[in-house]
Amino acid sequence: MREITVTIDGKPVSVPEGATLLEACQKAGIETPTFCWAENLTPVNVCRICVVEVEGARALAPACSRRAEANMVVHTDSERVRHSRKLVLELLGSSVDMSLAKDFSTLAARYGADPQRLAGASMQQPVKIDNDQFVRDYSKCMLCYKCVEACGTDAQNTFAIAVAGRGFEASISTEHDTPLGDSACVFCGNCVGVCPTGALMFKKEHDLRAAGKWDESKQTVTDTICPYCGVGCTLTLRVQDNDIVRVTSPSDNSVTGGHLCVKGRFGLSFVSHKP
Ligand code: SF4
Ligand code: SF4
Ligand code: FES
Repeated sequence: MREITVTIDGKPVSVPEGATLLEACQKAGIETPTFCWAENLTPVNVCRICVVEVEGARALAPACSRRAEANMVVHTDSERVRHSRKLVLELLGSSVDMSLAKDFSTLAARYGADPQRLAGASMQQPVKIDNDQFVRDYSKCMLCYKCVEACGTDAQNTFAIAVAGRGFEASISTEHDTPLGDSACVFCGNCVGVCPTGALMFKKEHDLRAAGKWDESKQTVTDTICPYCGVGCTLTLRVQDNDIVRVTSPSDNSVTGGHLCVKGRFGLSFVSHKP
């Protein structure tokens, strides 16, 4: 494939034609924050934490989806970029519980974001617990669309959830907001696997956290192969006190692409069954 060269923060970087600015930044060793992007999902460009400044462009560009073009000159740490990322962090942190979102506090410190400055409207609502597999705490939902994509064409093709409502009323919902068990959901848990904020969480993890017993220092993480069928999916098991508390799959795994079915994701409780 033809290589093109872009200049990022003064450094020339060569990438294959069609690569995104995020990939070019990664190649240049420049860390770029992302929330709504994942390597196993189609970019939807909704969070805007990844924006960069492209010389000659009027608006900031989302690095996760903007294709690199030959001779582009890009700045990832300009005053405009820092100001925009700071505002995104403040808007998210003031309306959504981002306490479990990976890197949120580090990013808030890096960009000097103070969510309290905008405190007012919030997405606060009760946790939805309507099954034994996973809970939905939409007070932590930043509307990144990852779960919708994983439930839709990017993985499961079940389309059990979508965004309903507008503005502060917008939320991820099943059809007519029915409990998951009455919806089209097949409990693959691929939505849980991609959620970046802990809004979707294994029930076991939720219960341990609620009881103040979630303790990562006591947990082990082990890769194994699902015992159920010939597909042979790689499972990553997080175990605490001899109990499997979370099951994921590596997003770069060539068999799963990070996605599983209900059996691999939630069907292993027999392992710790105590008669
Ligand atoms: S529930 Fe999680 S994955 Fe779905 S939109 Fe909200 S934050 Fe994103
Ligand atoms: S996760 Fe599902 S598809 Fe994958 S090996 Fe297990 S049973 Fe088969
Ligand atoms: S990570 Fe690029 S818009 Fe969200």
